[in-house]
Amino acid sequence: MGKNKKRVLSGIQPSGYLHLGNYFGMMSKMIDYQVKNDLFCFIADYHALTANPNPKILSSNTFNAVCDFLALGLSPDKTTFWVQSDVPEVTELSWILSSYAGVGLMDRSTTYKDKIAKGLNPNMGLYSYPILMAADILLYNSNLVPVGKDQKQHIEMARDIANRFNANYGEVFILPEPDIVKETQLIPGTDGQKMSKSYKNTIPIFGKDKEIRKNIMSIITDNASVNDPKDKDTPLFHLYCLFADKNEEQILSEKYDTPGLRYGDVKLELFEKIMDYFAPYRKERNMLQSKPDDVKDILCLGAKKAKLIASEVLDKVRSTVGLSHS
Ligand code: TRP
Repeated sequence: MGKNKKRVLSGIQPSGYLHLGNYFGMMSKMIDYQVKNDLFCFIADYHALTANPNPKILSSNTFNAVCDFLALGLSPDKTTFWVQSDVPEVTELSWILSSYAGVGLMDRSTTYKDKIAKGLNPNMGLYSYPILMAADILLYNSNLVPVGKDQKQHIEMARDIANRFNANYGEVFILPEPDIVKETQLIPGTDGQKMSKSYKNTIPIFGKDKEIRKNIMSIITDNASVNDPKDKDTPLFHLYCLFADKNEEQILSEKYDTPGLRYGDVKLELFEKIMDYFAPYRKERNMLQSKPDDVKDILCLGAKKAKLIASEVLDKVRSTVGLSHS
């Protein structure tokens, strides 16, 4: 790995199936990072634990998220790719960092406050979530952390904690920069809100044809009749454009202005486009799913690569704070 490449790190929680919002919001961008950077990418299963998921579901979601990434083109040769809990060193760093994370800082976490406002009975894992995230980032000497807008404060908290630590002990940690992935909020769901599992408005990528088709057919449209000109600032038009080249976009745009367009036809065309676009990935994913041992080998190697850096940084931190005594 070239020393002059920037280390880019990000984690994604395993949350079940993958949808268009995940893919265009975060995942495809993450995968692109591997071309020019030293990409570190992991599946954040310790973070997912804060919601107390069913154990079987957590482990199958983790495996599925791994297959999704690999099928969509994340290359284990170019990237360090692992499952967070396969490198438990991060939990030790998280504990050490918790002594440098002010309670006032933690209390300002908006994601935590939002969850409480929604009536969630919080546990300490949820409260400490940003410290574990800081540990993820600092353990691997990350320079750049691409995340959605909702995670920006967590990166600021990681910087705060690193600063406080460095102020005590000198420049031990590299300060990470956030790289806010803007598109995250722009992928509309079938109801026009941001596409998200919690709104039940998603279009799954590797779902069954029937399900994908059903969800596409349910995209909301206005009640313009066949011969009315139609509004383009709408979910169906925006989703179509994700899969259209400039020329196809122009053609659809003209059809929207001209009498005779049926939304149902646009939806069917969108369905075809989505199926075609993901067909090679789907094939790859089926292959991976049928060879779980190969996937495990890939993860084993990824964890090994990650551990190399993690243990180096953790050793340095342990001796810095006085936890080594031989
Ligand atoms: N909290 C992030 C999310 O839900 C996932 C995550 C965990 C993460 N650790 C991280 C992202 C470290 C970036 C860096 O999206």
